[in-house]
Amino acid sequence: MADLIQFGANHATVTCPLGPRLRTFVGRKDSSKPAPDGLLPDAKASADSLINLFEDKTISAHELAALVGAHTSSRQFNFDSATSGAPQDSTPGVWDVLFYNQTVQNNITKGVFRIPSDVALAAHPSMSAEWQKFSLGNGVGQDHWNGDYAIAYTRLSLLGVNNINNLTECSRVMPVARPDFAGFFKQFVNG
Ligand code: HEM
Repeated sequence: MADLIQFGANHATVTCPLGPRLRTFVGRKDSSKPAPDGLLPDAKASADSLINLFEDKTISAHELAALVGAHTSSRQFNFDSATSGAPQDSTPGVWDVLFYNQTVQNNITKGVFRIPSDVALAAHPSMSAEWQKFSLGNGVGQDHWNGDYAIAYTRLSLLGVNNINNLTECSRVMPVARPDFAGFFKQFVNG
């Protein structure tokens, strides 16, 4: 089950236009016990406490800045019921860097819901410079972010896996990233 979740996440990421191809491993041992409640990061928490939470698990502030970029493809349903279904940038079907731009713009883009933790993290001194670099246009921010995301996500996907040396890499069964397709979208979303 754990492998299925990770495989599905990586497959979805590379299938999304502009999405990177991620190294993918299988062979995790499932637990029969459910995870304790309350372990998901709190979207109302301060940037400092979120950075500490991830650093405790060896994920640096820089890596966290890259990871939350997954909100380029998310929609919130439960955080704010009044705007249920609202995406975190105006192109939730594209793995672009618009999320990094729209989280820090002075005016909130119509229809977009900003998660408070993203706004707080973007303004944090240990993240804001990286955040700005990810948001650069003409594919510069995109290539930088995709590279950083791929490294950080593979690490995140292996946290707490205690049989790490017995996993099997199955990255080659993932669809290839499509640079032409990505290029086609880039001209509209990053120019
Ligand atoms: C500081 C850490 C994070 C916080 C506080 C956070 C918070 C949230 C919140 C509040 C939502 C909306 C949930 C809802 O109301 O339905 C959400 C959705 C989502 N987040 Fe995060 N997130 C964090 C990190 C991440 C990371 C590291 C990833 C992936 C690498 C990620 C991927 C997603 C995705 C894919 C959704 C959409 C889920 C759906 O459509 O049901 N988030 N996140």
